[in-house]
Amino acid sequence: MIIFEPFYENYHPNLMIAGAKPRYVQLKAPDWTFDPEELKRAFNKRTRAILINTPHNPTGRVFNKRELQTIAELCQKWGVVAITDEIYEYMVYDGAKHISIATIDGMKDRTITISGLSKTFGITGWRLGYAVAPPKYSAALRRVHDYLTLAAPSPLQIAAITALKLPDAFYADMRANYQAQRDLLAGVVRKSGFNFRMPEGTYYLFTDASKLGFDCDREIWEHLLSDFKLATIAGYCFFRPGVKTNFIRFCYAKSHGTILAAQEKLEQFRQSREQ
Ligand SMILES: Cc1ncc(COP(=O)(O)O)c(C=O)c1O
Repeated sequence: MIIFEPFYENYHPNLMIAGAKPRYVQLKAPDWTFDPEELKRAFNKRTRAILINTPHNPTGRVFNKRELQTIAELCQKWGVVAITDEIYEYMVYDGAKHISIATIDGMKDRTITISGLSKTFGITGWRLGYAVAPPKYSAALRRVHDYLTLAAPSPLQIAAITALKLPDAFYADMRANYQAQRDLLAGVVRKSGFNFRMPEGTYYLFTDASKLGFDCDREIWEHLLSDFKLATIAGYCFFRPGVKTNFIRFCYAKSHGTILAAQEKLEQFRQSREQ
């Protein structure tokens, strides 16, 4: 199974549980795009599936049509299924457009599209998600779902109907709010010495901390948490075990007050570096 690295941290254990052998293809900083030649080399006759996540956690990258077409052509050439996690589909900024690979020519019958309600409606923890797939795959999905989870709690499903009926204005407001939060946090994060390309999706800033003089991201993550009470995620969580990294992920799905408090803490951090 082909997987882009960095990746949402659950994928690695998910692949282990499924007995899949991962083949990693790098998304490269600062643009977080992939080299089509490297992707081409990752496919072979034993490849069963490719795991895509757009908009992408942790980098905030939104795959464009050209990138999705490259993936689609290779899936068709090698008879590979695309499993695509689009849970941040409504969080796209600066005019970026979310494209589902299932809509690319020839992909509908070989794509399993996964999404969920937790990000869009701010209900992480409710565990409500869904998948759209051709019958030959959805039959297996239903069977596994029935024996693993049986069902999502029905009171939560009933509440979710209210969320699904929200008007278009809800989505536009959410995007505008997140974009403002992103811009607010981005300024001070950059000023504090973290480098990044402005992400066009999700609600994360995935930053390169290598200029800050720490040995690895676990060190800086610990320093931010214990000395400044600032919670981030160390980048190594988004890479296969054992890779040494120097990235910090900030999340701006927070109240305005929390972002302002984070600004203050980062300013203290910046000043401490100058002493
Ligand atoms: C890419 C991605 N997929 C899926 C999930 C899982 O979402 P949930 O378990 O809240 O439905 C997350 C949560 O962080 C995520 O980042």
